[in-house]
Amino acid sequence: MKVLLYLLVLLSTPLLAASPEAIYGKTGMVTSRSALASAAGLEIMKAGGNAVDGAVATAFALAVTYPSAGNLGGGGFAIVRLANGKVVTLDHRETAPASASRDMYLDSEGNIIKNLSTASHKSSGTPGSVDGLITLLETYGSLSIKQVITPAIRLAEEGFPLSHDLARQFKKVLKKMDQYPGSVKTFSKNGVPYEEGDFWRQPELAKTLERIALSGRDGFYKGKTADLIIAEMQRGNGEITLNDLANYKSIWREPIRGMYRGYEIYGMPPPSSGGALVIQILNMMESYDISAMGFGSAKAIHLMVEAERRAYADRAEHLGDPEYYDVPIAMLTDKHYAAHRFADFDPDNASKSEDVGAGHWLDESSETTHFSVYKEGMMVALTTTLNSSYGNKIVVQDAGFLLNNEMDDFSIKENSPNQFSVIGREANAIAPGKRMLSSMSPTLALKDGQPFLITGSPGGSTIITTVLQVIVNIIDHGMSIEDAVSLPRFHHQWLPDRIIYGKYGISPDTLEVLKKMGHIDFKEASWGRGIGDANSIMITDSVISGIKDPRNEGAALAY
Ligand code: DON
Repeated sequence: MKVLLYLLVLLSTPLLAASPEAIYGKTGMVTSRSALASAAGLEIMKAGGNAVDGAVATAFALAVTYPSAGNLGGGGFAIVRLANGKVVTLDHRETAPASASRDMYLDSEGNIIKNLSTASHKSSGTPGSVDGLITLLETYGSLSIKQVITPAIRLAEEGFPLSHDLARQFKKVLKKMDQYPGSVKTFSKNGVPYEEGDFWRQPELAKTLERIALSGRDGFYKGKTADLIIAEMQRGNGEITLNDLANYKSIWREPIRGMYRGYEIYGMPPPSSGGALVIQILNMMESYDISAMGFGSAKAIHLMVEAERRAYADRAEHLGDPEYYDVPIAMLTDKHYAAHRFADFDPDNASKSEDVGAGHWLDESSETTHFSVYKEGMMVALTTTLNSSYGNKIVVQDAGFLLNNEMDDFSIKENSPNQFSVIGREANAIAPGKRMLSSMSPTLALKDGQPFLITGSPGGSTIITTVLQVIVNIIDHGMSIEDAVSLPRFHHQWLPDRIIYGKYGISPDTLEVLKKMGHIDFKEASWGRGIGDANSIMITDSVISGIKDPRNEGAALAY
């Protein structure tokens, strides 16, 4: 009944429409990829919860209403600014199972076994989401797990009508689910695809969520849910054991902090590469007048591409799980290092990626589905994933949730591109218990110590450059939140040596100028409606303005 009420409220407002209009609020806001999940977060904050309660409610609801990335069987990163000003981050990234080994995806000749790290039971890391959400709630929330998970249980139990977008996704992904009975059961009507408008109920997922409501993390990592995960692993030779589940722990980590034109920027430390790269790229660009170059100008695109090229080369060499590899974070985020790394930048000519290796310290030098939530000074940016859309496409039978294929984010073979075409080396090699390198970049910006911007995005390796462009659009180009998020984006990641751009993102004459500068390869992004999905919130003069990235459905909701 309550679900129907939500739907009526949402349909009677213009909020469901993918509108580039910002939504305004005075007290609190949620912007996410699912209008129902945003409504769940808002309901909890209106009932007295803080932004962390709202974020945890939104995340559990996303696991029900946006199954391609919202999840129980995946992992993520959260960055939180508390009302007292302290900024904390929670790493709830998946871990490699204890039986994992460096060459587990290679055959006896050292070649990559096709699809093993992406589309098999062996592709899953031990899930971190449930531990992460409960840890967030227990540490900084004010309500109980029972309260914040209630909207998700309701949505799973009562169901909701499928949007055009979800029905289209299910139809498409069903073709890859034949061998997995649990998946076919969840995402079709006995093998017949759902249609837009069909009511979608998930009774098995509702039961899993109820076990979590009743027993907290033990409702997932022990007992019936854990037994169902292990039974699923055994059906497909997966690696996750009861011990892996029982031993999973999310980790509080110091945020990466940088300054950009007087704004404090806070990002995720390793095992995400997001914070380090965003700060490094901003540092390299800071001494250039991007505002004067103008949005979309060849000069501005060239500058950003050259900074991105160098930062992603550093990513391949230096970034991985800090518990296993000595990641030189101080160096990567240092302004002197950025100046040294960018010293060979030529404003008129492109460098070649084959000539750009990883950077190292100079001896004489001194010195890593996104949603955003805000309420009363508390900011939450949370990015979570199953890696590929719908993870490895395997629903745990009788538990109703999908498993991740995050193991592919490791460097499964030195210098071999993964599904996002990024390469890695020793820093990101597979080891038991290790966390795979990520590009997820939930990010906060403060101005004069006060909340200013909450942002982040999906998009694999393009996450970092999406976040970067939201920041630059606002700080350098003075854009409103709707323009900063809506305008087309571009991306360069060192290898392949190519500029990818959203439709209409680079004008034909700008492309010509960039070619003359020596940029060799251009590609219009072929996925979805452009690069990223940066659901963001801005706070200025006590006014909260936010936007659902208009590239995809969902909603920003405020009060
Ligand atoms: O952690 C990462 O960097 C990737 N697993 C993120 C995957 C992703 O963004 C897929 N979405 N478009």
